Amino acid sequence: MLIDKTLLDKYNVPVPRYTSYPPANYFTTDFDYNTAIKVLEESNNEKPDNISFYLHIPFCSQLCYYCGCNTHITRDKEVINDYISTLKKEILMYKNFLSPGRKISQIHWGGGTPDYLDAEHVKEIMELFDRNFSFISNAEIAMECHPAHLSYNYMDTLLSLGFNRISIGVQDFDTQILKTVNRELPAIPVNDIVKYLQEKGVSVNLDFVYGLPLQTEKQFARTIDRAIQTSPDRIALFSYAHVPSVKPHQKILEQYGIPEAAEKTAMFETAYKKFTDAGYVSIGLDHFARPDDELSVALDNKMLSRNFQGYCTTRTTGQVYAVGVSGISQLNNAFFQNTKDLKTYSEKIKHNIFPFEKVYFLNNEEKLIGHIIKEIMSNRYLSYRKTCEIFNLSKDDIFRITRADTKKLAEFEQEGLISINEDGFTVTRKGAFFLRNIASLFDPLMKQQEKHFSKAL
Ligand SMILES: C[S@@+](CC[C@H](N)C(=O)[O-])C[C@H]1O[C@@H](n2cnc3c(N)ncnc32)[C@H](O)[C@@H]1O
Ligand code: SF4
Repeated sequence: MLIDKTLLDKYNVPVPRYTSYPPANYFTTDFDYNTAIKVLEESNNEKPDNISFYLHIPFCSQLCYYCGCNTHITRDKEVINDYISTLKKEILMYKNFLSPGRKISQIHWGGGTPDYLDAEHVKEIMELFDRNFSFISNAEIAMECHPAHLSYNYMDTLLSLGFNRISIGVQDFDTQILKTVNRELPAIPVNDIVKYLQEKGVSVNLDFVYGLPLQTEKQFARTIDRAIQTSPDRIALFSYAHVPSVKPHQKILEQYGIPEAAEKTAMFETAYKKFTDAGYVSIGLDHFARPDDELSVALDNKMLSRNFQGYCTTRTTGQVYAVGVSGISQLNNAFFQNTKDLKTYSEKIKHNIFPFEKVYFLNNEEKLIGHIIKEIMSNRYLSYRKTCEIFNLSKDDIFRITRADTKKLAEFEQEGLISINEDGFTVTRKGAFFLRNIASLFDPLMKQQEKHFSKAL
């Protein structure tokens, strides 16, 4: 077994996913709008200087029953046209607040299904960015795509607009499984899409989900073999999050039986082994990249970073300004989450009001904790010296603020999860499966609340 069974039992306790610190359940509706605007303006004086834009396109043509994303199923063109006009206005509202010297390093289109939009809409928005902002050279322009909507013409438009990273939701290659979860099938075989995009210099990621009905270790192994034959640059391997209390449509899947935890772990282990044997480098908990990919190189150089959109390098990491329903802006000093409601969203923008629904303002101690957690989750190490330099603190301050227990750190070392050196520690290969547990040692909130998060694996 790849993952130590005893440690798996010991550490399979509820821990946050740490896509942000503090986690999104701490964001509050109880905030002063004018303060939020002031904090937004102040983000111009914070680091990093670069701007990342996240565009949330909530629309999909059909609901996949496992879906946990913020989606709106519609075939109504009017609804989509109105949304695009609103989105354009919101982008221009940001323009008024962002210092002209700041450059875009990353634009990420997520959803929902951005490639469900007419190519003309994507073009209008990219041209709006071009007219109103400047870019760093070789900025990352990425889109999450559903292969049911990708035609060669559509891909050509994306290429002409400068998209250089395309992520494709495969989930599984097994048609029976896709039909069971009510997912539309690819318009062009995924293999051909990947080949076409890679020939034009685009980096391609494939998303897979394990733990869906009808999936078994043996069957999923075949999907992973096909994934490796397809030769993507990156892979995201998500554990199916079954939360019918939040996403009631997921209940439909219960009639088919949902794989148990042990079967899921076996699927993960098989996939992990196959990807790493094929030469892919394991990134974070559930991502893989070719050894020459920017992410693998960044991991080697301890330059990997992470935001709500996934892993990225410090070269392209900017403060994230999110537009569209449910989008979360991730600034150095605050988080702003937009309303999830389409009507409220368009009403607010119509009146020139940012549609923030939940906010969190970060103090210096929380920035320190967030930095430490990000280093562990991304670069799998912690340097006390580097951290002290960034925050102008002493090592004692780090332990006082994070309330990290040095005895527990020694226990992690005894268990072979970390290797301690005079300046900090690095996470071992064995420890890489327990990144969330190791990071949580530096999270003082975990000492208050241990029960509110999903299990670590
Ligand atoms: C916005 S979708 C990607 C674009 C497009 N909508 C699609 O499905 O191909 C983001 C990804 O989230 C993952 N996902 C969705 N629901 C999930 C769930 N309940 N648990 C784990 N992963 C999930 C899927 O792998 C999906 O590709
Ligand atoms: S998985 Fe993708 S296509 Fe399916 S409903 Fe969710 S966002 Fe839409």
